Amino acid sequence: MNDAVLAASGIGVRFGGVRALHDVSVAVRPGEICGLIGPNGAGKTTLFDVLSGMRRPDAGRVRLAGVDVTARSPVWRARHGMRRTFQRQQLFGQLTVADNLVVAQEGGRWRRGGTARSRARAAEVLAACGLDGLAGAYPGTLPVGLARTAELARALAEPPRVLLLDEPASGMTEEERQRLAGVVRRLAAEEGCGVLLVEHDVGFVMDLCSRVVVLDLGEVLAEGSPARVRADPAVRDAYLGSTEAGVTECAPPDPR
Ligand SMILES: Nc1ncnc2c1ncn2[C@@H]1O[C@H](COP(=O)(O)OP(=O)(O)OP(=O)(O)O)[C@@H](O)[C@H]1O
Ligand SMILES: [Mg+2]
Repeated sequence: MNDAVLAASGIGVRFGGVRALHDVSVAVRPGEICGLIGPNGAGKTTLFDVLSGMRRPDAGRVRLAGVDVTARSPVWRARHGMRRTFQRQQLFGQLTVADNLVVAQEGGRWRRGGTARSRARAAEVLAACGLDGLAGAYPGTLPVGLARTAELARALAEPPRVLLLDEPASGMTEEERQRLAGVVRRLAAEEGCGVLLVEHDVGFVMDLCSRVVVLDLGEVLAEGSPARVRADPAVRDAYLGSTEAGVTECAPPDPR
């Protein structure tokens, strides 16, 4: 995919004897919302760690807007427009929600309070995410769904070119999920951000994404439109069979 904002090719990762990823290639275009689904342990979070630079792959390359960033740090990638959220939330607990967004914009130059510009941007993003009333709250005091929304807001503190979301809807109420879907849609449609979304709620993924990649046992099992992936017998066997029979969450909501 030549016009991809983010492309990984031939990614391999081993943890000792465990082959977590083997020859995995994925790409996301600007403005595209692409789903990444698969059973527990399929390698989704490991792939996010490779894409964001937190784990160096044993094989393969990662390109951000055509530039090979395989050897670049997570900070470098973030400064060049790649942002992510974590399956286990990673907000700074000793900072308010608003200050978490301020620090995300000012990096190592942050002083308590931040600049007027980053405070204004933080307020704007919090409002867009429906969190305007919680700017002064501390993340540890928030219910899971709101804390996850705050983490999404932090990832948007600087407008991203590509956004990686690791189970963002886990633990959210239906209303929070709808808001999340609205924010992601707007980001893709209006700002041209490419989104890669990991989520066990298959209905949520199929509604939101125009393309879905299925990982199983560290390999790409299938890829295509939601309808095509849903109909794929191999995907049904490996993953969808159990979820579509009524178990919509393979993983329990992560309380952290
Ligand atoms: N730091 C690590 N050390 C050893 N093995 C690991 C490590 N991280 C992940 N693994 C293994 O790599 C494989 C892929 O794990 P990963 O967390 O990427 O899966 P996942 O698709 O994100 O699963 P889930 O849906 O449960 O979040 C699993 O077998 C896991 O046990
Ligand atoms: Mg995971």
